[in-house]
Parts: sequence; structure tokens; C-alpha cells
Amino acid sequence: MDKVVAITGAGSGIGAATAELLSAARARVVLAGRRADRLASLAERLPGEAAWLPTDVRHRPDLQALVDLAVERFGRLDVLVSNAGVATVAPLHELTPEQIDDMVNVNLMGVLHGITAALPVFRTQGSGHFIQTVSTSGLRIVPGQTIYAGVKNAVRTISEGLRQEVGESIRVTAVSPGMTRTEFVGAEPSPDNPAAQAIYEQVQRVAIGADAVARAIVFAIEQPSDVDVNEIVVRPTAQS
Ligand SMILES: NC(=O)c1ccc[n+]([C@@H]2O[C@H](COP(=O)([O-])OP(=O)(O)OC[C@H]3O[C@@H](n4cnc5c(N)ncnc54)[C@H](OP(=O)(O)O)[C@@H]3O)[C@@H](O)[C@H]2O)c1
Repeated sequence: MDKVVAITGAGSGIGAATAELLSAARARVVLAGRRADRLASLAERLPGEAAWLPTDVRHRPDLQALVDLAVERFGRLDVLVSNAGVATVAPLHELTPEQIDDMVNVNLMGVLHGITAALPVFRTQGSGHFIQTVSTSGLRIVPGQTIYAGVKNAVRTISEGLRQEVGESIRVTAVSPGMTRTEFVGAEPSPDNPAAQAIYEQVQRVAIGADAVARAIVFAIEQPSDVDVNEIVVRPTAQS
């Protein structure tokens, strides 16, 4: 695959699995996340060419630097996978202002920073592909995920609007994973947070591997340039 693909949240989970599949398919990848050690060790073990950059998606200049790195190192950017994400599962009244800020700034503003940094490059090239990792949390709304589902659905809406605005040379894909076995779920929550407990227990029982979501992302990238896979939902068959 002769593509240059930048991936945020590439140091773990779905982002790392996507980088591995793409690199095995001979794409050149640019890895982004805050933990430099994770990015460096992933870049080291990938079979193909890889660059990496410590990136905090809450800061727009970091996304500009990421896009610039892709263009400087590999001459172009074909795909931006906006995959970095955070969630705190708790009813809205129990969330701290910092937890709310973080969910908005990483899951929504982080995606927008990436889109606005890459869009001029895609327009100049006359081609490009935006892929956003959203969530089935936005398709089946449950207590404890109000803000998270809300911002993921904002990204879903922005993806569709963007698709219509960018015209025929730029593709836009929103991928909605269901419960996926990654660091995202974290440690077992305290028993006094039943919303988080319920999700934690279901994840332990039914979650699919990150490679299942990575395969969906690669599927969208591999399509011919006139085929735009706009929405993919990948959830465990056992997820309610
Ligand atoms: N796992 C699930 O069940 C599930 C379900 C639906 C949707 N998703 C979505 O899938 C995406 C990937 O999550 P995952 O499941 O693979 O979990 P993960 O392993 O925790 O990956 C999330 C990644 O986001 C990065 N990140 C967090 N804050 C960041 C920031 N401010 N700047 C840059 N990177 C940041 C983290 O790296 P650093 O900490 O090193 O920055 C981490 O590598 C997320 O958008 C998540 O919302 C996950």
C-alpha cells in the first residue's frame, strides 16, 4: 500500500494495532501520542518505515507539527486517523470539570485540530482521507457516558458535514468500535460507581481485540479512491 498514514493515539490499543497492520501492508506511518517511549518502541518493531512525534492532541500546534512531519519525511500525507480518545464513565453530576474538559478537548477538539491541520495539505494534493474513531456509545446511549457519547456523536456529525464540504477528492470515514480490549477500560472501578462497574464487567466478558477495529480502518483505506466508506460499526456479537 503506497500511502502515508498519520495515526493519533498510536502508542496503544486500536491505534497501535492499526499501525501494525498498515506497516505490514507497506504503508509508511507517522505515530502520535503523548508517551514517547510507546511510540519509539512501536516504530522500532514495525516492519516498514515509521516516524513518530510526541503529540498532545489538545494542542493545535502539535497536530500542525504532526502533519508537517509527514510531509517533510515522506513528501505527503494520505490519511489522518484521528484515534486518540479518553473517557471517564460516571454520571454527569459526578464528573469533575477537568474530566469534562478532557473528554471534550481530546475527543472533539483533538479531532478538529487534526482536521484543520491536514485539510490544506489534502486540498493542495487533491486527495486525502480523514478517519475518525468514534464509538457505539453514541449509537446506544447509556447512563454514565453522557459527555463521552455526546462528543463522539459531535465527531460523527462533523464527519458527515465535512464529507459533503470537501468534495470528490477527499474521503471521510467514521469508525465506531464497540467494546474493545485495550487500556481504555482501565482498572476495575469502585463498587460505588455502578455505571462504570456495569461497563467494566461487560467488557471483561465480551470485548473484541483491537485488531478487529484495525482491520475495519484498513478496509476503508484500501478501497479505490472513488469509494468512500463513510461509516463502519464493529462491535462484539455479544454486546448488548
Ligand atoms: N476500547 C473501547 O472499548 C473503545 C470503544 C469505542 C471507542 N473507542 C475509541 O477508540 C479510540 C482508541 O482507544 P483504545 O480503545 O485503543 O484505547 P487506548 O489504548 O487507551 O488508546 C487511546 C490512546 O489515546 C491517546 N491519548 C489520550 N489522550 C491523548 C492526548 N491528549 N493527546 C494524544 N494522545 C492521547 C493515548 O496515548 P497517550 O496516553 O500516550 O497520549 C492512547 O494511546 C479512542 O478514541 C476511544 O474513544 C474505544
